[in-house]
Amino acid sequence: MNQIQNIKGTHDILPKDTKKWQDIEHIIYQTCRLFGFKEIRTPIFEKTNLFSRSVGEITDIVSKEMYSWNDKDGTSLTLRPELTASIVRSYIQHNLKTHSTIQRLFYIGPLFRRERPQKGRQRQFHQFGVEAFGSENPEQDAEIISIAWHLFSKLKIIEDVELKINSIGSSECRENYREALKDFIRPYFSSLSDTSKIRFKKNPLRILDTKNTDELNILKSAPNISNFYTEEDKTHFKTVLQFLQSMEIPYKINQTLVRGLDYYTKTVFEFTSKTLGAQDALLGGGRYDNLVETLGGKPTPGIGFAAGIERIIIALESKNYNFSKQIPDIYFICIDEKALETTLSITKKLRENNFSVIFDPLRRSMKSQLREANKFGTKIALILGEHEMNTNSIIIKNLSKKTQKTCSQSELFNFLY
Ligand code: HAM
Repeated sequence: MNQIQNIKGTHDILPKDTKKWQDIEHIIYQTCRLFGFKEIRTPIFEKTNLFSRSVGEITDIVSKEMYSWNDKDGTSLTLRPELTASIVRSYIQHNLKTHSTIQRLFYIGPLFRRERPQKGRQRQFHQFGVEAFGSENPEQDAEIISIAWHLFSKLKIIEDVELKINSIGSSECRENYREALKDFIRPYFSSLSDTSKIRFKKNPLRILDTKNTDELNILKSAPNISNFYTEEDKTHFKTVLQFLQSMEIPYKINQTLVRGLDYYTKTVFEFTSKTLGAQDALLGGGRYDNLVETLGGKPTPGIGFAAGIERIIIALESKNYNFSKQIPDIYFICIDEKALETTLSITKKLRENNFSVIFDPLRRSMKSQLREANKFGTKIALILGEHEMNTNSIIIKNLSKKTQKTCSQSELFNFLY
């Protein structure tokens, strides 16, 4: 019979790798605590129109990449392709505004996009993200960006990352810019790719995202969005940059950075890393001051980002990051069947005293148990055999120093501490 394999673009995270995830998650939790962000967990699937209304009908995510199906009652449901929309839905539904005027939220979890799998791009991947609701001020933008900065510093990859930032202005600015960009592109329309032709009609700003070299050449002389900023847009962006400088966070302004989701307004940013190859975006985010209202809530500004955890792992592995290991404190070697009851009772007490202990339920020889203890990197082996049972004693073997001593079973804990 054929073995069943996992689905293309999904990955098992095997025991040899889970510690990497736990290490990163640990630093994420510590970082979020420092900034006062609290964790939120929302369902893996939502109604499809949540994503089409927020991320946007003609974005790649919604038009091509969603895993959607009709439920038995006919409702269209979708495996979440991103989390900002779900968080906003939950924020509105549970009226989180009344709990605190500023809501500082973070999440870690799986997402699903039907993209072409390659290094750093899966169909099921995981994000860590933060969202802050309630402030439209530039200090909130700067603080959000500084969370990412803090995280990458703690993970020791800050030298490899580059912060790219832009402002796509307010709706008013984008409306004027959209027309100017269309006027500029119109003479070249027939030479555009099919994707750009659709974008020209539905969301011309996204043409700036193109990777097509001919189009990039045309766009070199395209009008610049910064010439369309309102006074308020200009002041906001300038102040965000000023605050970043005061925190000594270096950035590069990239006027073609528009991001592939429709809900953004004003500040948008990405952290890229040259260690990642083609899929070089470690993290992306921005301000979405109209999204809460678009999804039926009271007008509330918001800003956030999300980082791909698989990509963080690639970045860490390329630097030979020293991930921690799960090594048991004690390997308990029982070499006499009659000692099994005592083995179980002592191992129980050891665990109650917070020692991690494993023993061999295969009743193998002392030699093979010692070999396994060394393989696990365990420092201490406790040995219980017929002689020790007869004398109420136990052998404590220090496997790294290669020394051993015998003590009475009742005194064991005095020797272990
Ligand atoms: P995004 O740019 O679509 O933004 O995704 C954020 C990050 O998720 C990317 O920078 C990348 O590291 C990772 N990522 C995206 N797609 C994949 C994939 N197929 N495989 C592996 N990693 C991937 C968002 O999702 C927005 N919700 C971010 C945000 C939060 N904006 C405001 N708040």
